[in-house]
Amino acid sequence: MDILIHLLVGLHIIGIAALLGGFLTQMKAMGAGTARFGPAMLHGAGTMLVTGALLVGLNEADDHHINTVKIGLKLVLLVVILALVYVKRDEETVDKASFGVVGGLTMANIFIAVLWT
Ligand code: HEM
Repeated sequence: MDILIHLLVGLHIIGIAALLGGFLTQMKAMGAGTARFGPAMLHGAGTMLVTGALLVGLNEADDHHINTVKIGLKLVLLVVILALVYVKRDEETVDKASFGVVGGLTMANIFIAVLWT
């Protein structure tokens, strides 16, 4: 089971790369108001949700301790991210505020994951 959990953490990190990479590579465009939520960001956010939920299930099944408050907070922030990216996925340009919120919440979730031990 441990190998499966480690593989899923790897996929979870690939999801972060897609979501955050989509944000970071468009920071200049965000400044100009021409950034958009590309498919990598949408699929990255979806990957976070699916792999995160599977990680909770597998850790519970294996009797590993899960910090439910931390995971709950990450879930709430990801729901906001996913909702924004999904609703605005077809917009040619996304306003600076929505784009910035997605990048900021993604980074917040990374620091919640690594600092809250
Ligand atoms: C943008 C959203 C997210 C980011 C950036 C993120 C980030 C991370 C990172 C960096 C790790 C590896 C470090 C660690 O083991 O603590 C991790 C692990 C994990 N994540 Fe996420 N995550 C996100 C969303 C979620 C969601 C929505 C869930 C659950 C529904 C979730 C559940 C987990 C679980 C269960 C682990 C395994 C380690 C642990 O017990 O904390 N994550 N996440």
